[in-house]
Amino acid sequence: MFEALKTQPADKILSLMTAFRDDPREDKVDLGVGVYKNAEGQTPIMRAVKAAEQKLWQVEDTKSYTGLAGDAGYHDALRSLILNDTVSKDQVAAAATPGGTGAIRQGLELIRMAAPKATVWLSAPTWPNHPSIIKYLGMPMAEYRYFDAETRGVDFGGMLTDLDTAKPGDVVLLHGCCHNPTGANLTASQWQEVADFLKAKQLIPFVDIAYQGFGDGLDADAFGPRHLAKTQPEMLIAASCSKNFGVYRERAGLLMAVSQDPAKTPLNQGTVAFLNRQNYSFPPDHGARLVTMVLNDEALRADWLTELEGIRTGMLTLRQTLADALRQRTNSDRFDFIAQHRGMFSRLGATEAQVEQMRQSHGIYMVSDSRLNIAGLNAQSVPILADAIVAAGV
Ligand SMILES: Cc1ncc(COP(=O)(O)O)c(C=O)c1O
Repeated sequence: MFEALKTQPADKILSLMTAFRDDPREDKVDLGVGVYKNAEGQTPIMRAVKAAEQKLWQVEDTKSYTGLAGDAGYHDALRSLILNDTVSKDQVAAAATPGGTGAIRQGLELIRMAAPKATVWLSAPTWPNHPSIIKYLGMPMAEYRYFDAETRGVDFGGMLTDLDTAKPGDVVLLHGCCHNPTGANLTASQWQEVADFLKAKQLIPFVDIAYQGFGDGLDADAFGPRHLAKTQPEMLIAASCSKNFGVYRERAGLLMAVSQDPAKTPLNQGTVAFLNRQNYSFPPDHGARLVTMVLNDEALRADWLTELEGIRTGMLTLRQTLADALRQRTNSDRFDFIAQHRGMFSRLGATEAQVEQMRQSHGIYMVSDSRLNIAGLNAQSVPILADAIVAAGV
């Protein structure tokens, strides 16, 4: 049997990590992998998470199973964080999942069960795991224009023109905030326009939110999903706690199926629990419990908010410093988009050859589509990157 297996394509980002590790240069800069790093290049455990972990060790008295959909307290805490009071509890079916990826996978499986002919529309470009999972599940998929290579902003006209060809019942996958890989995001008024458009065309939004708090702040970053939850008959949300709580390896995610009609929730809840049962039975609990403790404890929550805000503003400062360094070197404002982008990533708009040149000449490692992780920079590496960008003629 095993001889029938085929080698699967290597993950581009993981190969990049290996190449970086093997590079002997001391001033090499890793802007590849999508993990937050502080100025020292560490991905620290957040203070409030560490404190919750210590407390949990003291108070947890069983490792018995939780519910199939995870712990209800986790659903409540995360639903409030993401959707605030835009919907009531009885409008939301929720299931804890292994990370945001697990939530995306379970959401897609729900779509496949409920509407096997629905096409899932993805932004061009998007996080490569989106098309990869959809392809694996054998679901119809299509792309809508999203990134304007000229302005490095959102091609909003192109997006709506492409989505205009979608059929009623199709699903539109949207990044809730901090678009990966481009860093270009919809404005609040564009979200409102998208909401009106989706409703009029009877398209179903599926929001992937993996960076809440990394862009313009926790509430501003949730504007899109909140507005959709208020206005659409139904929607799906896949949330990840990996980045904003720094619990990457704990695998804490949540799938939510939101419906205007609370009468639909019991069926939705039964479905998401069933899907968990088929794929892995009970979801991981440790990370979810830490997140719940942080959100529900006043002091821990306040400390988490402070640390998260520091992460967010630190990345904004790096963006501005890099944009300023490029202004100085190029005597132009053509890299100002870096300061306008939000989240951990920006797509620079460099060719693959230019990305390769930056790697060879300056030891700068970024994904071949020129996505760079802003959090991989610090005060020392910003000028190196700015020099590399100019030298490569981006
Ligand atoms: C756009 C997007 N969605 C979802 C995820 C899910 O992350 P995880 O499965 O680690 O929680 C990521 C992580 O990189 C992401 O970038």
